[in-house]
Amino acid sequence: MNRKDFFKVTALAVAGIAIGPALLESCAKTSTTPQGPSVNFTLDLSKSANAALNNIGGYVYSNGVIITRVSTASLGFVALSQTCTHQGCTVAYSYQTLAFVCPCHGGTYDASGNVTGGPPPSPLKSYGITRSGNILTIKG
Ligand code: FES
Repeated sequence: MNRKDFFKVTALAVAGIAIGPALLESCAKTSTTPQGPSVNFTLDLSKSANAALNNIGGYVYSNGVIITRVSTASLGFVALSQTCTHQGCTVAYSYQTLAFVCPCHGGTYDASGNVTGGPPPSPLKSYGITRSGNILTIKG
């Protein structure tokens, strides 16, 4: 290694030491603020478009929200923002793992919208659900 190469390598090493921690810190930034749209809408469970909600593990998308049937209870539903907080892919529900899963980079969320794995930087917004007969109201 000649003197010129030595200075190049040294300059790159010093730059890496100076910039590296800042880059790592910016990559690791997370937020506990749930992300998702504000909504207020209804779903009719008797409509064929919502038939998936009559089976445990079934889900539908509406108004930017994934509504999922998680139990046989009358209010056994979960409603979360359908948009992954990492890069905006649409999450799905996995009945096998009882998790909301992003197909793009493997991000996972629990039924409250909290990040349980992968790169998502913040939780999914969770919505309140009320039921009157066959009508679900999703609001939040
Ligand atoms: S877009 Fe969902 S994990 Fe990357």
